[in-house]
Parts: sequence; C-alpha cells; structure tokens
Amino acid sequence: MSKKICVIGTGYVGLIAAVGLADFGNEVIASDVDERKIEGLKQGRVPFYEPGIQGYLERNVNSGRLSFTTDQGRGIRRAEVVFIAVGTPGQEDGQADLSLVEQVVEIIAANLNAYKVIVCKSTVPIGTNRKIKNRLKALLKAADREAEFDVVSNPEFLREGRGVYDFFHPDRTVLGCESERSRQVMTDVYRTLNLISTPFVWCNPETAELIKYASNAFLAAKITFINQMANLAEAAGADIHVIAKAMGMDGRISPKFLHPGPGYGGSCFPKDTQALVKTGEAWGVDMSLIRTVIEANEEQKMRMVRKFTGLLGGDLTNKTAAVLGLTFKSETDDIRESPAIKIVAALLKAGARVQAHDPQGMANFSRLFPEVKCCQDEFEALAGADGVLLLTEWNEYRSLDLHKAGNVMREKIILDTRNLLDPREVRAWGFVYQGVGRGEAPAGQ
Ligand code: UGA
Repeated sequence: MSKKICVIGTGYVGLIAAVGLADFGNEVIASDVDERKIEGLKQGRVPFYEPGIQGYLERNVNSGRLSFTTDQGRGIRRAEVVFIAVGTPGQEDGQADLSLVEQVVEIIAANLNAYKVIVCKSTVPIGTNRKIKNRLKALLKAADREAEFDVVSNPEFLREGRGVYDFFHPDRTVLGCESERSRQVMTDVYRTLNLISTPFVWCNPETAELIKYASNAFLAAKITFINQMANLAEAAGADIHVIAKAMGMDGRISPKFLHPGPGYGGSCFPKDTQALVKTGEAWGVDMSLIRTVIEANEEQKMRMVRKFTGLLGGDLTNKTAAVLGLTFKSETDDIRESPAIKIVAALLKAGARVQAHDPQGMANFSRLFPEVKCCQDEFEALAGADGVLLLTEWNEYRSLDLHKAGNVMREKIILDTRNLLDPREVRAWGFVYQGVGRGEAPAGQ
C-alpha cells in the first residue's frame, strides 16, 4: 500500500528521494525552510543541475503525488513516514554538524499526532539514530504528550550526476530498523524496489550508519590507492590504465573506482572520511588507514600543481594558466571540495593568472574566486595561455579540437589530470603532454 510521506530538506538527497518516492506511487510533500527554493520548485525549477530530474519532477507534480511546502509542521502531521534529508556538513574539527537534524527532530516532536516512522537519510555518525529516538521520547515526555513512533536509518548511496538513475536502480537498500511495524511500513514505501529484486539489508541502526561511512571511506581509499599506484607507474615507466584494467579483471577487486585523477572531491568523501576518523577517536579505535587516505588525497592535488609548474619551467609568475573543469566531477554544477579549488588557489598564489571554463560550475566557482576569468568556452580560456590543466572529465573536453587549441595558446602545454586525451595524438599536434600514471619506459631500455 502506498504511503503518505513528508521529506524534510530539498537538497540533493531530499529532492531526488521526494521525486523518486512519489514516482513509486507514494503521496509526497517535500518541505524546506528556504522559501525561494520551494517557490521555484512549485514552478518546476530544480535548484541544482542533475540530469534527468526535471521530467520526473513535472510528471509527479502533474499527477498530484508530489507537492512542496515551507510549512514543515503541516507536512509532518499529514505524513505516515517522515524522511529527514537535511545537510550534515563537516565542521572545522572534522565532526559532522548535526544542528539541522536536531532542529528537525524538535519540529517532528511538536507535530507527532499519530504513529509515524521517522527515517533518517542524512549521513549521520554512529549512534545518531538512537539519539534521535531518545530525544523524541524526551521531548514528548517534557510536553506531557504520548505518541508512537519508530526511527529507521536509511542511508543514501546516490552519486551526483547519476542520482536519479541510482535512486531507481540501487545496488542495495539499507534499513536500520528495530520493530516489525516499521519494517512493514518501509517495505510498503520501497515496494517498487522490492519488485525489481533490489537486495534489502535489514540491520540495527548503528550497522546502517556505519555501512554508509564504510562504503564511502572504502571508495575514497580505492581512488587514493590507484592515485598512488599511478604516481609510481609514472615514475617507473608503467601505464596505470593497463594496470587498473588488469587489476579490475579480478572479480574481487572490480574495475570501478580505479580511475586516477587529481584527487577525489565532492560533498561526501572528504566530509565522511574526516567524520570517520573522528568517530574512531571517539571510540578509541585506530583509523590510521583513513587518516592516511585523507592526507594522500590532499597531496595528490598539490602534486598536480607541482607537475604543472614543472611543465611551465618552474615558475608561474605572470604566466597564464588555462583551467578546464572546475566541478569535482562531470555532470554536476557542484564545486564543493573540488580539487580545482586548492589547485587554482595554489596557481594564483604562485603568481599565475587563471582563465577557466566549466560547462556547469562557473557560477559557483566565480563566487569563490572573483579574480579568475570565467570564460564562455574552452577556447576563450585557452587564448594566450602558457599551459592548460584539465581537471574535470567533461565529455566535451575529451574531444577538444587540438588544432584550434594549439593556434590560440601561447605555449602548447597540457597537464591532463583525468587522462582524457590520447597522448600520442596530442603530441602529434606538437604539444608537451603529461597525464597521470601514463609512464613511458626509460629511454634506451
Ligand atoms: C559518493 C558515492 O559514490 C555515493 O555512493 C554516495 O551516496 C555519495 O558520495 C554520498 O555520500 O552522498 P559522489 O560524491 O556524488 O558520490 O561522487 P563519486 O562519483 O563517488 O565521485 C567522488 C569523487 O571521486 C569525485 O571527485 C570523482 O572525480 C572521484 N573519482 C571517482 C576518482 O577520482 N576516480 C574514480 O575512479 C572515481
């Protein structure tokens, strides 16, 4: 049976969940305190770039299954299931900031008018779901009210840029749930996924919370592993792509997340690895592997700066650097923790002028770096440049017109941190080219 659902928070996770849950046939109210965002959504405007979401939004709003409100209380009172999908940003000390979750819990307590399942989709440290349960009990007691509820941990595994696809085709659905009643409700909410045989992992909330952190930390470690192997391959004259391909043929390893690059970024891996280290400290458990991953990832970004500086003769003073790609990966306008931020900051500090282009991320980037010239297309960014850094794997950069690029650049130098281009072809056009981990056998051997 379909459910009446309220999703609190219309950020990336919340909005995709709201749209997807409505598409499963549930009646969904999505709420947010941001009036402009809700007004835009009512008019069919998605507040971020995500391929495919627009059609689903329109379809479900038109069918009457999806609506938007700033009145969180009303949304909660009408719902049988309340999803918490607010942000849990990292703080200075690495710990997740739970203040938005805490605020939402207060609002839920004030509007708990019948049995409800409270589902936490936000990424939260181990023990948070149990704290939410206890806090709700305490708030009800303080208000001298009685209401039944269950708390379920339901971490999200969406990738930005593939979020809509991932919502409808998850590898698994994790549900940290402790009562039969809430288990039945969640089975109804996700009935469509059940029908297409998505594996459901039922566990306690602590296990669900740690599955999320462990998954993200493992992927971050996998990327860091291949980045360090790439650096070694580069030094030793080996080719990281062949290495990654051969490694990936081992079913135990899998070829996914073995693409070397300038370091991982985004709103999740950097924040979640930091938070995991903090959690380890809190429980007195060694998380040295993850700590090393974090350090090595920072070093990878700086390595790109050193390589580029080396290619340009060791000094960037008054040089013009073209940067293609600012977002932390392609198919998003998100620049949070993008390697481009640290790399561009270092280029500017070293005295370079930066001319940049990105198909989606320029508005966000220019707010951070007003001194960077944001260009209409890649050739404007390349015009007069002493070298170019390719930082994001946008498809349009894969087919860069090298003839045209060579004609507009002052020096034909390319640092391709995503290995998008064919080194032989680029060199044939007269460029000095370096990728990541694309070593060549030492001369004469
Ligand atoms: C990540 C996880 O993949 C999702 O499963 C998870 O739900 C999400 O975090 C989250 O916690 O919300 P996302 O941050 O959108 O998703 O992006 P990814 O596709 O995982 O890429 C993260 C970073 O790693 C990017 O900077 C990307 O360029 C980099 N990356 C990825 C590599 O450098 N090499 C690879 O092989 C793969």
